Amino acid sequence: MMRILVLISGSGSNLQAILDSCAADKIAGEVVGVISNKADAYGLVRAREAGVATSILAQQQFADRAEYDAALLALMADYQPDLVVLAGFMRILSADLVRHFAGKMINIHPSLLPKYQGLHTHQRAIDAGDDEHGASVHFVTEELDGGPVILQAHVPIFEGDEADEVAARVQAQEHSIYPLVVQWFCQGRLRMQEGAAFLDGVRLGPAGHACE
Ligand code: GAR
Repeated sequence: MMRILVLISGSGSNLQAILDSCAADKIAGEVVGVISNKADAYGLVRAREAGVATSILAQQQFADRAEYDAALLALMADYQPDLVVLAGFMRILSADLVRHFAGKMINIHPSLLPKYQGLHTHQRAIDAGDDEHGASVHFVTEELDGGPVILQAHVPIFEGDEADEVAARVQAQEHSIYPLVVQWFCQGRLRMQEGAAFLDGVRLGPAGHACE
């Protein structure tokens, strides 16, 4: 069984989707731990209810990013993860930490990357007049929200939509694509090589795997 470590900062709805898929044997892996940088993250409640070990590493305890990330790396390593899943973990990770888990760390970002890296993606898509938006699962590299895309989900933006409506539409899709990608990884079908994502030995394009 692959050992999955999930990092969160908030609600943990993506964590929940992964926990549910594991419980339904749709993922050949086990969530062995959840780390949050926020003590009040609701995802910690979800983890505890699923009987998963949790750790909190609050930034206030550390002088700077380097110190925090050194402690985070040590804590992560304690869980001996085969896969690290960033699920709404709202911190930029240092290059050292990213390199340590290269090819073993994935993230979900609420946009059709490479569009709208960073924050406030839903509002930015609305403001740009886009008629579609979405989410991307990608390998984490040193470039923020810039690692190779594995899978994307598209949703429509309708006339008059508010950001929270678009966000809810995107999140519903996230809960499908993230567990699927985790399962691909646990099945040994997914890897990162030379800065590209490969599924079943096939190099994926800039939009990741074509929609099924
Ligand atoms: C998700 O929508 C995810 O795409 C986003 O945070 C949300 C976490 O929700 N991630 C980022 O913005 C990362 N840049 P959740 O805690 O309910 O899973």
